[in-house]
Amino acid sequence: MILLTGATGRVGSAAANTLLQAGVPFRVLVRDPGKFTLADSSIQVVAGDLGDDVAVADALKGVDRALIVMGNHPDQARLERRFVDLAARAGVSHLVKISSMEASAEATAELPKNHYDTEQHIVAQGLNWTFLRPNYYMQNMLMYAASISRAGQFALPLAGAKTAMVDARDVGAVSAAVLMEEGHAGHIYRLTGPELINFHEVAQRMSRALGSTVHYVEQSPGDFREVLGQFIHSAWQLDAVCELFAEIAKGSLEHLTTDVESLIGRPPLDLEAFTRGFSSAFAPQS
Ligand SMILES: NC(=O)c1ccc[n+]([C@@H]2O[C@H](COP(=O)([O-])OP(=O)(O)OC[C@H]3O[C@@H](n4cnc5c(N)ncnc54)[C@H](OP(=O)(O)O)[C@@H]3O)[C@@H](O)[C@H]2O)c1
Repeated sequence: MILLTGATGRVGSAAANTLLQAGVPFRVLVRDPGKFTLADSSIQVVAGDLGDDVAVADALKGVDRALIVMGNHPDQARLERRFVDLAARAGVSHLVKISSMEASAEATAELPKNHYDTEQHIVAQGLNWTFLRPNYYMQNMLMYAASISRAGQFALPLAGAKTAMVDARDVGAVSAAVLMEEGHAGHIYRLTGPELINFHEVAQRMSRALGSTVHYVEQSPGDFREVLGQFIHSAWQLDAVCELFAEIAKGSLEHLTTDVESLIGRPPLDLEAFTRGFSSAFAPQS
């Protein structure tokens, strides 16, 4: 049996979709079953928080392989590592973890450092593992949908830095492939979209998809923090995101790989297709 965490999120829901299409049985551990919208009687749904050992142990019964993905949160590292311990105790043989492209022994920013330390915690348990380290998710652009729709612009403190944005649905599809197939134990895959571009080029791609001009405004880190502070009320998360963006501005995501296509047998989704798919959110207000 395969267990997915984070199945109501962007990556986990895409992994669930792919497993369902492939006819592979699986179970999900979700906090709110009402938020898990994939309706199929073959899917086992266990309700519970990753902080609830009893619910996690229950979800892990008879599980052979599991996906660990959780949103960034002050407790993320602790809860993910606790899940790993309980999974090892339950006899899970293979863990697939969503990490991040910047995760490395040298990482100093909190989020990638936590991902790397959790990877090392998994390695130390002696079970099989696969680490997926994605680049910037295209879905992050949805945070600027209101500004793009209303004013035809988005602002970020990234100057001319490049990313090879990946669609989170491709990260989910890769997760499912790695969970379903043999041969991925001990591998680290670095997941990117099809091109390495700066945010002025991102704006061009989005303009082309929408048929209306989108501008990228180069923002100062101070302005970014002030705007973000209106939405993020946790000081930990605000610091962590600002720290991460300072690293991205220095080029931490300037990596392009072919891992997505190698793993799922088709090219990664591109930004124009992504933008067209969410055109109701991005298109200019009439
Ligand atoms: N954004 C990027 O550009 C980017 C790039 C590389 C890597 N990443 C990594 O990707 C991960 C986030 O993936 P995502 O975008 O798929 O996340 P997401 O859409 O924010 O979803 C997070 C999932 O985690 C679940 N969750 C959170 N806290 C939980 C808890 N205490 N117990 C059980 N479930 C819990 C959420 O459940 P609810 O629905 O109940 O909240 C949801 O299903 C992060 O680790 C991040 O570092 C992100």
